[in-house]
Amino acid sequence: MSNYHIKHLEEYYQVYRKSIRNPELFWEEIAEEQFLWRKKWNHVLRWDFSKPEVKWFEGAQLNITENCIDRHLATRGDKTAILFEPNDPSKSAEHITYLQLYHRVNKFANVLKAQGIKKGDRVCIYLPMIPELAISVLACARIGAIHSVVFAGFSATALSTRINDSDCKMVITSDGSYRGAKTIDLKGIVDEALERCPGVKIVLVAKRIHSDIQMKEGRDQWLQQLLDEASDQCIAEVMDAEDPLFILYTSGSTGKPKGMVHSTAGYMVYTAYTFKNVFQYKENDIYWCTADIGWITGHSYIVYGPLANGATTVMFEGVPSYPDFGRFWDIVEKHKVTQFYTAPTAIRALAKQGTELVEKYNLASLKVLGSVGEPINEEAWHWYNDNIGKKNSPIVDTWWQTETGGIMITPIPYVTPTKPTYATLPFIGIQPALMDEHGKELIGNQVDGRLCIKYPWPSMARTIWGNHQRYKDTYFSAYENMYFTGDGALRDEVGYYRITGRVDDVIIVSGHNLGTAPIEDAINEHPAVAESAIVGFPHDVKGSALYGYVTLKDTGESRRHDNLRKEINQIITEHIGPIAKLDKIQFTSGLPKTRSGKIMRRILRKIAHNDTSNLGDTSTLLNPEVVQDIMDNAL
Ligand code: WTA
Repeated sequence: MSNYHIKHLEEYYQVYRKSIRNPELFWEEIAEEQFLWRKKWNHVLRWDFSKPEVKWFEGAQLNITENCIDRHLATRGDKTAILFEPNDPSKSAEHITYLQLYHRVNKFANVLKAQGIKKGDRVCIYLPMIPELAISVLACARIGAIHSVVFAGFSATALSTRINDSDCKMVITSDGSYRGAKTIDLKGIVDEALERCPGVKIVLVAKRIHSDIQMKEGRDQWLQQLLDEASDQCIAEVMDAEDPLFILYTSGSTGKPKGMVHSTAGYMVYTAYTFKNVFQYKENDIYWCTADIGWITGHSYIVYGPLANGATTVMFEGVPSYPDFGRFWDIVEKHKVTQFYTAPTAIRALAKQGTELVEKYNLASLKVLGSVGEPINEEAWHWYNDNIGKKNSPIVDTWWQTETGGIMITPIPYVTPTKPTYATLPFIGIQPALMDEHGKELIGNQVDGRLCIKYPWPSMARTIWGNHQRYKDTYFSAYENMYFTGDGALRDEVGYYRITGRVDDVIIVSGHNLGTAPIEDAINEHPAVAESAIVGFPHDVKGSALYGYVTLKDTGESRRHDNLRKEINQIITEHIGPIAKLDKIQFTSGLPKTRSGKIMRRILRKIAHNDTSNLGDTSTLLNPEVVQDIMDNAL
């Protein structure tokens, strides 16, 4: 029996048990049956969480683009692979067939080769949501170059840090991007970033907005000219199962961003298998994930997972509010979208607009609704269920992370009964554990603890680029022999999981992970700032927003607080990007600290949440007087 497509609850339990009882045998069958290999593996899995080291399908050889493109040509050559919906609704959508995708990826791959990019080289991709983004990702994979996509909303400083951390040789960008009614000068941002990146020798520039940009002699080249001259045939590089496929940066609670490294075979197998089941994908479906390819959701569930299944995947360049808040529903109607996957923050923003703009459109094509990125609150869940799904399309609340590569805890639509705010059951092959603060596993149901994973799964990140020790410290040191997710979760009376949120200093704002330390570092660069602390507070659209407590240096001169607030947000925008701007900034006479000098964020969090009835144990505070002062002046 094939276990590739799960269709009812009994089958889920049966396949789940099988995947836990003998994971190697289980994954071997899936890999054998569903994918194209140049050479089969010697070992399905070798692992040791104490190192940590995880190897799936060791000895196997493959190229992921042969699985995502070439093998579909015989039966799906004329089928749309990528359906590109541009920012401007009056412009027509572009249907890129599998055959066209094959030619375009090959041409791009040949351009990369001609520019000296080889297997193992790192290529930074800083592009808007245009077809070249997906194509350049696949072109890197075709020749074995490691792509590092940086979300095109990040600032020049954030971009340069990421380029240098993984030593990228090349940057692929565009002459600008459209975002609703605005245009953004991406090339200008790249130019500024590259002042700090001596390792980048080549910049390929896609034309998108036709703005008048500066091309640096000897470094910058127009992509189209090179593509025009390139052959549309490119033999795929033969990759080892564990060769890195890409690096993707994610925020940590401390220090610089972590370059999560994903490898080839396991990532392919797991993203394809989850895509098939979590979206109950069928051959003629039109699947749309609204994420940006700059995030893991876009990597796994716009590009690799759907294409590995020969699906049609929609890529949307614009924003949900342009030309008005009906845009998502307009696209659903126009392309008869069957699966729609978005983030709670988008749902809340749309719900705020009422239902008038929803009712204008025919959403009858929808079969599955997805949610990802942060806990979905009950109100948003019901709005989504009632108004978009018309109570007919199950909501899959999918919990996972950049580090996990693929969806980990999720309902399977039409299989798992859903429950608002619950991600429900572990996906096939996933063994979650809830731990108490003493490192003991909480057994049974109706428990609440820290979410860990006990056993390897194929798409887990293998390391942090250039810093294996940090990988070990962050994920494998909190609990012995377990992967620690950084999230808290509870298990209800029937074994369903509900993710309760981060238990570390990562704050999720509009679905974007933000570490507090890099933002504080940026603020502290302001000459008037002595120190600062950032916490999250509830926000009705963003989920969480940022509250900054800032202590100023005593310079004797008085400065207007409003101006300072603007300047602080400006510094943050320059260092990280506008997504990390603070909603509230309170100037304080000091920050509450323990005797060992640690800022007591717990107290600041309570004040920001307007929940000061019980501040908990404050006996270790060095300076209790500032707490009263902060409470009196809270915003
Ligand atoms: C949070 C996104 C609750 C969680 C794929 C996780 C969620 C972090 C959910 C990873 C969900 C993601 N319910 N929380 N369905 N999905 N999260 O790396 O805190 O951008 O650790 O990956 O988002 O965010 P990342």
